[in-house]
Amino acid sequence: MTLSASHPLMDGRTSASDLITAYRGGAPARRPVWFMRQAGRSLPEYRTLREGTNMLESCLRPEMASEITLQPVRRHGVDAAIFFSDIVIPLKLAGVDVDIVPGVGPVLGEPVRTAADVAKLPRFTDAALDPIREAVALTVAELGTTPLIGFAGAPFTVAAYMVEGKPSRDHLGPRRMMHTEPDTWRALADWAAEASGAFLRAQLEAGASAGQLFDSWAGSLSLADYQRFVAGASTRTLAAVKDLGTPLVHFGTGTGELLPAMRDAGADVVGVDYRLPLDEANRRLGGTSVLQGNIDPALLAAPWEVLEEHVRSVLAAGDRTPGHVVNLGHGVPPDTDPEVLTRLVELVHSVPPAAR
Ligand code: CP3
Repeated sequence: MTLSASHPLMDGRTSASDLITAYRGGAPARRPVWFMRQAGRSLPEYRTLREGTNMLESCLRPEMASEITLQPVRRHGVDAAIFFSDIVIPLKLAGVDVDIVPGVGPVLGEPVRTAADVAKLPRFTDAALDPIREAVALTVAELGTTPLIGFAGAPFTVAAYMVEGKPSRDHLGPRRMMHTEPDTWRALADWAAEASGAFLRAQLEAGASAGQLFDSWAGSLSLADYQRFVAGASTRTLAAVKDLGTPLVHFGTGTGELLPAMRDAGADVVGVDYRLPLDEANRRLGGTSVLQGNIDPALLAAPWEVLEEHVRSVLAAGDRTPGHVVNLGHGVPPDTDPEVLTRLVELVHSVPPAAR
């Protein structure tokens, strides 16, 4: 399968954009930059629009999800939109009792802990993805030459919420399950891989020009456990969209030991968190991958001179890699001054890109 002829990546709208050029290892005219969690609480226009609407409900209202996706593009002039949704939306669409509690995160009515719990997990119909397709279509119709990035949660991070039933610090529940009930773990990871794969595919087919797999909590795993219990499911999620030919990014936090394994799961671009300098990440990857990252979100609150020096060092390290898309090392903190983000985009765009 390929994308339709009217898809933004196929009809010439986004294929020559700086983001897609950089993701594909080419030489962009300007340094591409976008921010994880660029949509959301740091923007007053987001807080106003969301008033009175539950988080997951807002994701499933196509006009609202589209407008929220567009807000940071208009305000900051970033080089990509990231689709406003959540990694637990596929659970919600399947009929799992899940909600996002403000200030807490995803919470399930009934955690998934036994073989019987996994066996009775519902499967969503293709039609359940229609609000996602509609929101993506509305968004790309407005974006013009700016690419939309679609995303999904990687099976480990999604399953971690399912087993714990809520956010947790060290993800003991899923890590225990791998070793105490490996068959149950594999069945759960497969369920999550299929759900996330279908969710990502719907976004790409409807108009997203690239995809990102978020394995935010993979850093709690040893390399051995990642390879034995997780990498296969993440590979299946990426394989579900590989035939579409869009660039695919794989990101996690605390994943310095896992970067080559995450690349080998089928990613074209490796997202790096703020703990590891990009040139060191590049060394660990054998100098072959385009990287995305990794401005420390904590520095968004620092005096401008401190932030600028840090950003320039990130750009310099990125120049010593096969390709670089500027981003944060994790999401925008909700209390970030949005004007700092706009200024950051201007700074990144003002520094001429490396010759590649
Ligand atoms: O701008 C964007 O990045 C696009 C949208 C996006 C959201 N969630 C919106 C959101 C994306 C890509 C995600 C992914 C996501 N969701 C991840 C992976 C990325 C990461 O940050 O590590 C994870 C782990 C989740 C689960 C989740 N959803 C958490 C931990 C939270 C925060 C809870 C809180 O209130 O602090 C959410 C809620 C959420 N997802 C919000 C947004 C904008 C906040 C909702 C609000 O406005 O109250």
